[in-house]
Formats: sequence, structure tokens, C-alpha cells
Amino acid sequence: MEKIIFACPWSGTSGETLILARSIREFAGSLSDSSIWVFTSKSLEEFPKEAKNELMDLKAEIIQIDGDPEDLKFPFVGFVLAAATAESMAKGKTEYLVWIDSNSMIIKEPKKFLLKEGKNIGYRPVHHTLIGSIYDEPIDSFWRLIYQKCNVQNEKIFPMKTHVDGKILRPYVNSGFMSVRPEKGLFQLWWDIYKKLYKDPDFQRYYDKDGLYVTFIHQAVLAGIILSTMGKGELYELPFEYNYPIHLYPESPKEYQPESINDMVTIRLYLDKLKDPKWREQIPINDPLKSWIEKQLVHTLTDKEPISDKVKFGQIPLVYPIPIVLTGALVDGKANFEELGDVAVMGIKPAIICISSGKDNHTNKGILEHGTFSINFPTTKMIAETDYCGTVSGKDVDKSQLFDIFYGELETAPMIKECPVNLECKVIKEFLVEHRQIFIADVIQAHVSKEYVTEENGRKKIAEMTKLDPIIYALDNKYYKIGEPIGEGYKESKKLKK
Ligand SMILES: Cc1cc2nc3c(=O)[nH]c(=O)nc-3n(C[C@H](O)[C@H](O)[C@H](O)COP(=O)(O)O)c2cc1C
Repeated sequence: MEKIIFACPWSGTSGETLILARSIREFAGSLSDSSIWVFTSKSLEEFPKEAKNELMDLKAEIIQIDGDPEDLKFPFVGFVLAAATAESMAKGKTEYLVWIDSNSMIIKEPKKFLLKEGKNIGYRPVHHTLIGSIYDEPIDSFWRLIYQKCNVQNEKIFPMKTHVDGKILRPYVNSGFMSVRPEKGLFQLWWDIYKKLYKDPDFQRYYDKDGLYVTFIHQAVLAGIILSTMGKGELYELPFEYNYPIHLYPESPKEYQPESINDMVTIRLYLDKLKDPKWREQIPINDPLKSWIEKQLVHTLTDKEPISDKVKFGQIPLVYPIPIVLTGALVDGKANFEELGDVAVMGIKPAIICISSGKDNHTNKGILEHGTFSINFPTTKMIAETDYCGTVSGKDVDKSQLFDIFYGELETAPMIKECPVNLECKVIKEFLVEHRQIFIADVIQAHVSKEYVTEENGRKKIAEMTKLDPIIYALDNKYYKIGEPIGEGYKESKKLKK
């Protein structure tokens, strides 16, 4: 019986898996001869040759997972299936299975993976809150649903602190870093439940609301399974020297900024950041680790694994930046506002815009009733109210008192006085695409608050974007502020047209 088996998903040609495997062989001390299993949905024939040869040299085994290609399209389905496959293969072969994501690296012998008597899982909490549930706030509907579907009893819930943002959450552990006893069958249960839950229609509205739910539901389900099957005494929170995210070093709280990364036991890394020598300078990595990492970068990215400069992120609508608007409608005689990022100009003359709003959103009811709605551009000072309109529904709370409201020509499109710009819109086409209702509308009138309008040569002019101060959003789930103007449309190209 082996002490430990390391299992990880194949990272693709980025080379991360190779660095992980090399680091196990080099730095894992008495565990460095352990089996390494690399899981992939590719067949051995399809697997990149250079990487296959090196993994063989490192005595790592490549194992193909057998998943339905339709299922594998959803984020982390292959990942959870690989963990469950590793667990069933590991039964009877090893005391501990370490499920470790490819962008990890071992720095010192990870002794604490060998769990003490009575402990059945060693884990680290998530680095950031993201969709996590704040412990001393009432539980939200998403987590209530997770707990209900995973059969979690309230008394099982306990506080857990995130690494980077230092929030106290309901249990939420990093799904790419765990030591488990394979005979407990935790990953098999994770897979059995996740493969059903990810497509459970009850979760669709969360996916529609925020892509983070799509990405992280597998991790929420894992938290649910751990709580429903294990008592607190069986859980072991590994110290912060395990799974230390060096890419988050600059933003980590002081208590989690070690004097030297060499003191950590295992780290998480992002090759793109690590490749940048300027970025590396900010991180206290000393020799001999420093030179070892530098050698890996050259070895992985040029000699062994020539890769394109582009990293594939799959099917995500990575359009940025995203303007944030508040869409207003009169629902059952009351104004309601929802936050939307999915808004687009479809034409200037005639002025046509398009919005995409979840089909069950309360706002849609008013838009359908009157055939009208408004688009309002909040300023960055209104960020809390805006985010509020994006996280609670008019079905549950009254959002009509949040702002000073006025009406224009359409009389049924409530607009927000505090927003510098408001558009009154009249629907010309409406249809469903999957779970989204698309409204294409004529802009009937654009309103701009007086203080943002100037006159130049007898013509009205709208203030610069820096003054309008809109809220910008991006697919990293962060809100941004607009920057300085850098040129003029249709004029900058003159320099090139000689
Ligand atoms: C940053 C952000 C962007 C959002 N963008 C959209 C969007 O484009 N489409 C959508 O249907 N919902 C979007 N939402 C979610 C809705 O605003 C949310 O479901 C809201 O509760 C709906 O309100 P209602 O039910 O009162 O209409 C977004 C939420 C946030 C926080």
C-alpha cells in the first residue's frame, strides 16, 4: 500500500502539470516517489507527444476519463469526474489520495497530507469569497438550495476564514486541493451529486444572474457534500503554508505574506504572471527555489512545450468593458429597477438598443405589460444601490424607493434623477434566447441632467465620460471607473493615412 498518490487534471499545453510533477519528484521528500496520476479527456494518441514523453520519464501515469462529451462541456464536470475516478482507482492502493490542481507546485515535503487518526479530509478554505456565503449574514437562496439538495443540516455549519479577503464564510473549501482517505468515497458522492445538480433547472436562474455560479457550483456542491457526510472532527484545515497562492501575494493580508516563499510547503501559481520577470520581482522567492522556477519557465515554455501566446478560455462571451445600466420598468403600477450589463447599441440612426434580461426577472413583467422601459446610467457613487438592484428582485423587495423617479414622454418608463443620462425606450421586438428575454427597442428620448450639459458655438454638448463617471464591469466580476480620454474617433487614423 502506498502512503500517498497524487492525482491532478491535465493542464493542457500550458506546462503547469509538468511543473507540478517535476516538483513532486524533486521536493516532496519521502513522498517524492509516490504515484502521480494525470487525468485527461484525451486519448493517449491525442495527447501532446513531448508532454507524454516527459510524464513517462517522470513515471507519471496518464489516465483518460470516460465522460459524456455533452456533460464535459460544462465547467468542472471533467474535473469532478477525474477526482471521482482517481478515488475509485486509489481504493486499496493508498492511504491518502491528494487531489491537487495542476497549477500547484510542491516546495517541501507535504507531511500534513498524511492525515492524523480520525481526520478524513485535509483542505484549505477558498482564497476569495466570490459566491461564498458570509457566515454572520442570513443565508442566501443559492446556498439554501445547495444545502437542501445536498441534505445539509444547519447545525453542521461552522465559520471558515478565506485566505485573501479574510472573510468569515460558511464552509467553502478549495476544490483543487485536498487530501482524502479514498475508502470514504467523498469524491464519488461529489460526482454523483454534481452530475445531476449542475443541470438541475433550479440553478438556471443563478447561472443567468452571474457566470461565477456556473464556474463555482462544483465547489459549492463539494462544500455541501462535505458538510452532509462528515462531522467537524473529521475535517482538518491545513495551515496556510499549504496551497499558498503566490499570484495573490501582493493582495494577501500581512499575516499571510511570508518573508520568503521558500518557507511555504505547496504553492499555487499562474504561469502568465510568473513568466513576467517584473512581476516576479515583487514576490520574495529566494534561491535555490528562484533559479529552479526560472529554469522551469524556460524549459516548459520554450524547449519542451512550444505554445501559442494565446490561452484558450473556452465559450465565454469575453466582451469588455461592459457598461452597467439600471433598467427601469413599471411593474403592477410600481417602478422597478434591475442592473444589467447586457445592453448594446444596435443602430444610431434610427436609435435602437437591445437588452437581454433573465426571463423570470420582475422587470420583464413591466416591460411586457407596457412595451416600454428606461435605461439609466448610474455613477460610481451609486455602486451600492446599483449592485443591490442586481442582487435582489422586485418580486421580493420594493426597489421603487431607492431613487428619485421621473417620467418622460412614454409615461410608463420610470427614470432615475440621480443618473446623469436616461433613455426612454419603446420595444419593437421581443423574443427568448434560452433563458434570456431579448428586448430590442427604439430610443424615444435621451435625457441628460443639466449639470452635464454645456454649450459650444450654440450647440448642446454632453460632458466627457470622466464627468459622467459611469460604472464599468468586466468578466472578472469587478466594477471599474472610466479612465482619461486618449483620442478622437475618425481622427486618430490620420497619422497612418499619409
Ligand atoms: C454586475 C451585474 C450584472 C448583471 N447583468 C445582468 C444582465 O445583463 N442580464 C440579466 O438578466 N441580469 C443581470 N444581472 C442580474 C439582475 O440584475 C438580477 O437578477 C436582478 O435581481 C433582477 O431584478 P428584478 O427581478 O427586480 O427584475 C446582473 C447583476 C449584476 C450584479
